[in-house]
Amino acid sequence: MTETKPRARLVSTGRFNPDRVMTNQEMESLVETNDEWIRSRTGIRERRIADKDTHASTMAAAAGSVALGRAGLEPADVDLILLSTATPDRLLPSTACDVQALLGARNAGAYDFATACSGFLYGLSMAEAHVTAGQAETVLVLATEKMSSIVDWTDRTTCVLFGDGAGAAVVQRANGDGRGILSGYMKSDGTLAELLWRPGGGARIPLDIMVLDERSHYVKMAGPEVFKSAVRAMCEAAETALRRAGVTAEEIDLLVPHQANMRIIEATAKYAGIPMDRVFVNVDRYGNMSSASIPVALDEAVEQGRAGPGSLVLMVAFGAGFTWAANVVRL
Ligand code: UT7
Repeated sequence: MTETKPRARLVSTGRFNPDRVMTNQEMESLVETNDEWIRSRTGIRERRIADKDTHASTMAAAAGSVALGRAGLEPADVDLILLSTATPDRLLPSTACDVQALLGARNAGAYDFATACSGFLYGLSMAEAHVTAGQAETVLVLATEKMSSIVDWTDRTTCVLFGDGAGAAVVQRANGDGRGILSGYMKSDGTLAELLWRPGGGARIPLDIMVLDERSHYVKMAGPEVFKSAVRAMCEAAETALRRAGVTAEEIDLLVPHQANMRIIEATAKYAGIPMDRVFVNVDRYGNMSSASIPVALDEAVEQGRAGPGSLVLMVAFGAGFTWAANVVRL
C-alpha cells in the first residue's frame, strides 16, 4: 500500500478538565447503582464535573490557549475557530463566538457544529477542507462538553456514564514532510436519532412546564442498541480510514478511540487488529466526554510519550445522530 500525502497537519494539541473528581462511590449516594456495576459494564471509575462558573466556552478557551501556546501562536494568528459541542453555553449565539471573545482571536471566523461524540474528527476534516481551499491558514479545532448539565441526575442508566472537559488542536497546511491528516471518513444515520437524544427543549418542542415535568430536555439513551451500533460503525470507520490512508493496522502506533465504554474500545481494537498495548484508554478517569474524549485522549497520549512527532495514529468515534468518523494522522 502507498501512504497518502497529507494536505493539512496537526501542529499541536491541548486539553482542559475541571479539577473536581466524582467517583463511582459518590454516584451510589445519588442513584441506585454501585461501583462494581459501573466498572464492569463501562470501565469508568471516576469523571470530572465542572462547577457552575465553568462552561463549554471557558473550558474550550482554556484548551485552545494551551494548544496555541504549544504551537507558538497568538490568538490573533487564528483564522478560524471550529467548535464541536452538544452543550452550548446558550442556543444563540454560537459557543465558538464566545470562545473567540474569550481568547481575543480578533482575526478569526467562528462557528459551532453538532455532531456529538464524533465532533473532533468531523472538525479535523472541516479544518483540512478550509486549509486546503485556501480559506484559512491556522484553524483552531475545539471540542468541549459540559455533559453534567444535560444528564438527568435521577436516571442511573445515563448519569453514571458522562463527564466534562475540552480538547483542542491547531491545524495548518502540511509542509511536505509526510506529517498530517492522511485520511478522513465521516458517516451518519439520522433514522436512528431517537436512540440517543434530547427530545424536548429545542425549537420543535420548546421548553415549557411539560418538558420540565417529563424531564425530556435531558439526554435519553437506549444503551444496548447504541452499543451494538457503536461497535459496528467504529469497526467500519476504522477499516475505511486505514484503507483510504494507504496504511495497515500493523503500522498504526496508537489507536485513540472514542471513550464511551471499555467494551466498545476492546471490540473496535480487536476488529481493527490492533493489540490493546497500542490503544489509548482514559475512560476509567473521565467517563464519556462526548466530542472532547478523543482530543483529551490524544493530548494525554502525546504528553505521556505514547505518541509523538512521526507517530501514526488512528482515531475513531461514534455518537448521537448517529454520526461516526475516523482519521489516520501522522503526527
Ligand atoms: O458516546 C455515544 C455512544 N454511547 C455509547 O456508545 C454507549 C453505549 N452503551 C453502553 O455503553 C451500554 O449499553 C451501557 C453502559 C449504557 C449499559 O450497559 P449494558 O450492559 O448494555 O446494560 P443494560 O442497559 O442492558 O442494563 C443491564 C441491567 C439492567 O437491569 P435488568 O433489566 O437486567 O434488571 C439495568 O436496569 O443493568 C441495569 N442498570 C444498572 N444497574 C446499576 C442500568 N444502569 C445501571 C446502573 N447501575 N447505573
